[in-house]
Amino acid sequence: MLNVKVDHVIESLSLSDDHLMRLSSKMSQELVRGLHQSTNDEAEIKMLPSFVTSTPDGSENGEFLALDLGGTNFRIILVKIQSGDSPKIQMDNQVYAISNELMTGTGTQLFDHMVNCLWDFLVERDMMCQLLPIGFTFSFPTKNLGIKQTILVNWSKGFTATGVVGEDIGQLLNDAINRKFKNFELKIMATVVNDTVGTLVSCAFDHHDTCMGLIVGTGTNMCYMEAQSNIELLNNHKTLEGEMCINTEWGAFGDNSGALDEIKTSYDIDIDRNSPNVGQHIFEKMISGMYMGELARLIIVDLSNKGHLFQSIDSNSLFYKSGFSTAFVSQILHMNDNCSQALGTTDIFKNKYGVTCSDEDMTKLRKICESLSIRAASLCAIGVIAVARKIIEHRGQRHLVVGVDGSVYRKHPTFKSLLINTTHRLAPELNIDFQLSTDGSGRGAALVAAVESRIQHIVTQ
Ligand code: GLC
Repeated sequence: MLNVKVDHVIESLSLSDDHLMRLSSKMSQELVRGLHQSTNDEAEIKMLPSFVTSTPDGSENGEFLALDLGGTNFRIILVKIQSGDSPKIQMDNQVYAISNELMTGTGTQLFDHMVNCLWDFLVERDMMCQLLPIGFTFSFPTKNLGIKQTILVNWSKGFTATGVVGEDIGQLLNDAINRKFKNFELKIMATVVNDTVGTLVSCAFDHHDTCMGLIVGTGTNMCYMEAQSNIELLNNHKTLEGEMCINTEWGAFGDNSGALDEIKTSYDIDIDRNSPNVGQHIFEKMISGMYMGELARLIIVDLSNKGHLFQSIDSNSLFYKSGFSTAFVSQILHMNDNCSQALGTTDIFKNKYGVTCSDEDMTKLRKICESLSIRAASLCAIGVIAVARKIIEHRGQRHLVVGVDGSVYRKHPTFKSLLINTTHRLAPELNIDFQLSTDGSGRGAALVAAVESRIQHIVTQ
């Protein structure tokens, strides 16, 4: 036993396998409600058709640009694809910061900034006059009205830029391009995709069986290949053959159904209350990197206020929102019992937060971070299982490949193994293969543009 209050917090974060499987069934029901025309309006998981129906077949060729906006960075990637028996991809990529002012200013400022970065990128590579198809990974909930029309439904992950919700993202990008490149005859065709879709398509380039795309980073989301005849939001769906990628936007699980109410702690309620999208993306707020550090901080502050952690605190930086990042949760988990000193974690606590951290405090902190991580990975696993079961209904096959990307999956020391082990433990009958899809979202967006160009017979350099 650590201490009654600390044990109580840890207990409130732990979920039994039975409970997890009940949540998985609830998620399965919500997936179906999102797909049906009659229930889609009120469904919390929106199941957005992406209009991406083909994955790469190896015959794609040429140079493509990918733009990637989804968190605190904006990336531009030049992707060179060489077709052949063993197709190859080369990437040249540059990262640009997105300041908080840009995230929360006007849409025009945000899009102009991205296009200024694009200008610099092309000038540096002496590529100003080329026709290049662009794949634009835009990692927010969007409604696609076709492969070329993508409307932002609502912002998430701290973005609130004005004048973008309800607008066509490809059009806003093209308008900004026209403002900046007015003297150039540059014809840009932008295909806008969600990062999960990019991840699936990118992984499918290497693993043809890939049918799910998962992101666990700043936010979390999943897409998967659904039979078009099951997608009632498509015109004449019953007559359609083949599959289409559905962007589930599973981050919104629990928003209206109350499915997560009984597992919400007072810390989850605080996180939501202080977020720019109150009442939205409740599932995401229990899992992703944007919130895990903040959840840990709220627990630590509460325990220390009640005298259960730290003997003395002589700075108040721990008391500010976002004072504790998910990367720090990872650092705490990296330690074993004797190495906190060696890794300097106690020094960071002293220097950054002004708290003296005893060995006993470190044990409690580690336990808190572990419990938050197990809960996050377990919730993610029940989602993977629900989606896998949905795919099996039309594909039959039990071997399913999930392409995964995102900073939490890649950098958190235990998340990946917790997710894989929990998925296999809870659903041993499924043969789910998790494949890291590094750079999946950007590379995938370029591949979507490449597939589109192949279908439309557009030749690039
Ligand atoms: C948020 C966005 C979603 C995105 C996910 C991962 O949940 O709403 O579109 O895929 O973050 O970046």
